[in-house]
Amino acid sequence: MDYRLVIFGLSVSVAFLICSEAPSVKMTNAVCKSYNKSWVAVHYCRLKAYSRNKTSLNINATFIEPAYHISLHLKMMKKASGYKPFLFDYTIDACEFMRRRNQPVAKIIWNMIKDVSTINHTCPYMGLQMLSDFYSIQFPVQLPTGEYLLLLDWYFDGKPQFATNVYFTFVEDFLTQKK
Ligand SMILES: *[C@@H]1O[C@H](CO)[C@@H](O)[C@H](O)[C@H]1NC(C)=O
Ligand SMILES: *[C@@H]1O[C@H](CO)[C@@H](O)[C@H](O)[C@H]1NC(C)=O
Ligand SMILES: *[C@@H]1O[C@H](CO)[C@@H](O)[C@H](O)[C@H]1NC(C)=O
Ligand SMILES: *[C@@H]1O[C@H](CO)[C@@H](O)[C@H](O)[C@H]1NC(C)=O
Repeated sequence: MDYRLVIFGLSVSVAFLICSEAPSVKMTNAVCKSYNKSWVAVHYCRLKAYSRNKTSLNINATFIEPAYHISLHLKMMKKASGYKPFLFDYTIDACEFMRRRNQPVAKIIWNMIKDVSTINHTCPYMGLQMLSDFYSIQFPVQLPTGEYLLLLDWYFDGKPQFATNVYFTFVEDFLTQKK
């Protein structure tokens, strides 16, 4: 995916969002899995329901050994007779990102979770990692109404260690869609 395209898309959407009704984003499922239980133990990975249209995400996992080289594969999917790739699919160096905050889509995610997670520091990461009661989704992109899946695959030393996958629905205008 061409970053310039993403940035262009984001700026257009931000402008659009500011003038439009707040769209409704709701997380509908969260699935975390460890590929290597001697490095990552996932204790808890669950949504909490607040209301019909609001859920919060809670993740609690332990990195048993320190992780010095972390990369993140971000992939967005949209449901259309099965989930199909949508909008972005690429890998970033997470340690470099934490030093330089240099990647626009990762920065959107970072801005949403920085206050409710334990990740606000640079590499290495070790021990308990948490995302607590995350619900404030400020997604600056106007997406078409539908069901989405954000796949986050975490690599340590270039090898997949765990995944945090979040399903969500995006409704452009909740009230007109409700009936
Ligand atoms: C799994 O984790 C162990 C413990 O940290 C590590 O030594 C090993 O290289 C990891 N295996 C893979 C395939 O990443
Ligand atoms: C994280 O999960 C583990 C295992 O369920 C639990 O023992 C621990 O108390 C949890 N930590 C926090 C801070 O929630
Ligand atoms: C969504 O939830 C909020 C908070 O619970 C509530 O105020 C709002 O009316 C709900 N919107 C719809 C369309 O159900
Ligand atoms: C992240 O850490 C930096 C440096 O300690 C601090 O200045 C900043 O306020 C922190 N941000 C958040 C969201 O906690």
